[in-house]
Amino acid sequence: MSRFMSERLQALKAYVPGEQPRRDGIIKLNTNESPFPPAPGVAGAVAQAAQDLRLYSDLSAKRLIELLAKTYGVTESQVIVGNGSDELLAFAFQAFGGGGLAFPDITYGFYPVWAALYGLDAKIIPLSPDFSVRPEDYMGIGRCTVLANPNAPTGRAIPPAALAEIAVSNPDRVLIVDEAYADFGEECALGLLEGHDNILIVRTFSKSRQLAGGRLGFAIGSEALIDDLNRVRYSFNPYNVNALTQAAGAAALEDPAYFNACLRAVIETRAWTASKLEELGFVVTPSQTNFLFAAAPGLTGGEYQRRLREKNIFIRYFDLPRIGNYVRITIGTQAQMERLIEATKELLS
Ligand SMILES: Cc1ncc(COP(=O)(O)O)c(C=O)c1O
Repeated sequence: MSRFMSERLQALKAYVPGEQPRRDGIIKLNTNESPFPPAPGVAGAVAQAAQDLRLYSDLSAKRLIELLAKTYGVTESQVIVGNGSDELLAFAFQAFGGGGLAFPDITYGFYPVWAALYGLDAKIIPLSPDFSVRPEDYMGIGRCTVLANPNAPTGRAIPPAALAEIAVSNPDRVLIVDEAYADFGEECALGLLEGHDNILIVRTFSKSRQLAGGRLGFAIGSEALIDDLNRVRYSFNPYNVNALTQAAGAAALEDPAYFNACLRAVIETRAWTASKLEELGFVVTPSQTNFLFAAAPGLTGGEYQRRLREKNIFIRYFDLPRIGNYVRITIGTQAQMERLIEATKELLS
């Protein structure tokens, strides 16, 4: 650290993203990307948009927001897009976290980092022993609550009715529902928007729409909440979503058949992988996401991760209290998961 770093930030512990190896021959199951390529129309749309790169990107992201509003049955003024959902979550923390935040002890590792970066008070609430969120812990808490639902890295979800109760019991605070993985689950909070003006849903194109490298996220909420987020955006970086990414996102949304086919493949392979791991003696948490949270028999999470890495299979391990025996395994293609199971059998034998 230089001697010039602002005093307020000197103790900041930055987020540590999963590794992004670029070598060939790796089975990359460590950062919950899709194993499939972007929708077939994406490359052409990006090439077309590249013709106009001389110009700044469309501030209103008109086409993309029109398509998102149509896809999710809301008005255009209820939608904002961001440079990954990370950016929109960070905007939401700034906009709504002033009266304090609450989130679980085991959840997306960026939440405590943003709280520290923006100097927000965060109440960390332990998940129950089976890693589920206890909705009653957030009732009447009087803080802006942030719940990844389904949660990461546990993969577990709570029903929309429980989210509604949390929102109703904290009427003067926003409930941020981070639905990065909701497309892989059975339920979502979209139906709660009407009737709950304090629920903000944040989603991403990184997991279910094959565009992690494009960096595109969106948030849906009441017009007033979206207006607040736009105020933060215009105070930071109005051109937050570049022209190539806007084109890529629109092309992805224009191909719902491809989106659904990729989702189905991941969900089927998830069920197959979970059953194979259970046959091998793993504890596998029920997953509503594109990853499995699992504990290997007789190995710590760190050991299992290291030994798979030697076989060029990358998974994610979190060296944290309560989850030291667990790893998070992204669902890849069926062939990749068959390779994972083979490698696991070899190293357990
Ligand atoms: C729960 C959760 N929220 C948000 C994100 C960020 O996604 P994005 O790529 O859209 O910034 C992730 C990424 O891993 C995540 O796991």
